[in-house]
Amino acid sequence: MFKKRTVLSIVMLSLLFFITACNSENTNGNDASNEAQQSSESETEEGINELPEEELNKMDQGEAVQTLQEGLNEIGYSLKLNGNFDEATTWAVTDFQLQQENLQAIGAYNEETKKALEDVLAAGDEIDVGAGLPQEVEASTSDEEANVVANPYDQLALVNKQNTLPSDYDPDDLVVPDIPFPFTEDLPKKQMREVASDALEDLFQAADEAGLDLVAQSGYRSYERQEAIFASNANEHGEEAANQFSAQPGQSEHQTGLTMDVTTPSINNELTTEFGETDEGKWVAEHAADYGFIIRYLEGQEEITEYQYEPWHLRYVGEKPAQEIMSQEITLEAYLDEE
Ligand code: DAL
Ligand code: ZN
Repeated sequence: MFKKRTVLSIVMLSLLFFITACNSENTNGNDASNEAQQSSESETEEGINELPEEELNKMDQGEAVQTLQEGLNEIGYSLKLNGNFDEATTWAVTDFQLQQENLQAIGAYNEETKKALEDVLAAGDEIDVGAGLPQEVEASTSDEEANVVANPYDQLALVNKQNTLPSDYDPDDLVVPDIPFPFTEDLPKKQMREVASDALEDLFQAADEAGLDLVAQSGYRSYERQEAIFASNANEHGEEAANQFSAQPGQSEHQTGLTMDVTTPSINNELTTEFGETDEGKWVAEHAADYGFIIRYLEGQEEITEYQYEPWHLRYVGEKPAQEIMSQEITLEAYLDEE
């Protein structure tokens, strides 16, 4: 009996020891994996930061922008870490995008740009800074009136009577949107930059689903084409009058490839202010921003835009900026603090 008890006690003690040993092993195991996790987290903090998830555009401010600036500096840029999506940050994003295959160069930070930047960071590569878009050098020009637009790829590029596109700027991603035109010829003016073309196709589809009849009249125009159009308008109406509705060469948004004039058959596909009174014109004013477009020349804002009201002239700027601009009923100049 006594013997049996002793044996039992020994067995139980051994069992207890075994269980304790197992538990402590488990605890050690957890500690080890916690340590591994912590060290990889702190590596992330010291080295490559997590890039922002959200889309970021010129004029945005905050921590996410600063994190993006840090990421860009990590691959060779020397941006001020000010958390402002300023002109320099827009330039760096565009320069980076121009050096990546299959990335649209738009100057805004999006999902595709995030992925490409992550790949470059993970590979520990550095970018050839300025190889895509040479950085703006302070222009020493005798022409004090017109600045040259240093970043014509920027989807928020300001092109107006004070800011002129380089005469040789010719977007290299022009495509013809799959939307109705009131003519059949294969003319260059059917084209837009891909980012704007995709968005305009979506806008036209939504308008069609709403039972509306939109057509596209005039998109991309080269510098030379605008030169001819302005000369013809000036010849017909006089230069002063022409300046109210027709841009001088280099000063037309149509050269960016981000613009399309739209109209509707009920007004004979004309580009007149009557368009704003049609169901199509009203729908466009209400919904264009959902697709990243603004009505660029608003009624009542002529002093800022320096052009007459043009309810037909749609300019792509990206969805978030478009929504801010259209909901506040402001001009692109005001949005960019360039009034
Ligand atoms: N109608 C606009 C101002 C242009 O010519 O670009
Ligand atoms: Zn236009």
